[in-house]
Amino acid sequence: MARIVPSDGRQRTVFFAGKGGVGKTVASCATAVWLAQQGWRTLLLTTDPAAHLGNVLGAPVGDEPHPLPGLPNLWVVKIDPKAAAEVYKKRILDEARAHGRPEKAIAVIAEELDSPCTEEMAAFDRFIEFASAGAWQTVVFDTAPTGHTLRMLELPVEWSKQIDVKVFSSVDTAVADDVAKQRFGDVIEMMRDPQRSTFAFVMYPESTPIVEAHRASLELATLGIPTGLAVANFVIPAEQADTPFTHARHVMQQHYLAEIQARFAVPLLTIPLLPEEVQGLPLLTELGQQMYGQLVLA
Ligand SMILES: Nc1ncnc2c1ncn2[C@@H]1O[C@H](COP(=O)(O)OP(=O)(O)OP(=O)(O)O)[C@@H](O)[C@H]1O
Ligand SMILES: [Mg+2]
Repeated sequence: MARIVPSDGRQRTVFFAGKGGVGKTVASCATAVWLAQQGWRTLLLTTDPAAHLGNVLGAPVGDEPHPLPGLPNLWVVKIDPKAAAEVYKKRILDEARAHGRPEKAIAVIAEELDSPCTEEMAAFDRFIEFASAGAWQTVVFDTAPTGHTLRMLELPVEWSKQIDVKVFSSVDTAVADDVAKQRFGDVIEMMRDPQRSTFAFVMYPESTPIVEAHRASLELATLGIPTGLAVANFVIPAEQADTPFTHARHVMQQHYLAEIQARFAVPLLTIPLLPEEVQGLPLLTELGQQMYGQLVLA
């Protein structure tokens, strides 16, 4: 539980990461709903381009944080990487102009910004904006599938330096350093601090997903970001394992759940396989209670 709620009154950010389709959005929604119901002012944000989040929550999700109807304490926002990229480009170019860079240099920067990296940087930039707004006690981030997320996290460190140096180079590199440090350094430090952020890897209990999630978790560790939680989704409840087919899968899953625990050595949360698609507040409430309820009493 300590890894989900704020400690020492400081904002806690929980990132749900993992391959496509493993249940990041479901885990994020159930967690955010649970946190809000515990009384924490919570922001749920997603970069899911399909805007799937709105379907799961049963309410539209916009580009600015809005309270979710019917559930106090929960605000929801989506980050559209394309729209964010436009705003981001404009900001960098305006800054360059404000610092008196000649039009030729501006054109070079503009060209440089026309890269797929910009969308990821911009999404990250938006995330920083929300995470540092100070308005929420908990922030739940439903991240894009693993590859994107890792790139998004690696980029700020290297790429932002490049751009900032280009913007400011002939002006004052100390200023450039400060800008990069302020905007990205603080948030990277936050992501490395287990008191303030938690990376939760979502997977299903089978061999390949575990190996892949573990590899991604090691990659994250090279950035100095520890994994705080593992989440196993689509777990067949013991009481449902009453046919030869479901029993066999249940036995297999138990084996892989043990493997997740051995590999990750962090607390493991499980989400039961449901007979239906996960949608709507009542079901999310129930899932949140199943994920966290017992732990609270412990
Ligand atoms: N425990 C579960 N029981 C039944 N269905 C589930 C469960 N978890 C997720 N699903 C369903 O599986 C699909 C994928 O889940 P979800 O959208 O949360 O994955 P995701 O990791 O966010 O995917 P993406 O990488 O595409 O964003 C959805 O249709 C969802 O309703
Ligand atoms: Mg998703």
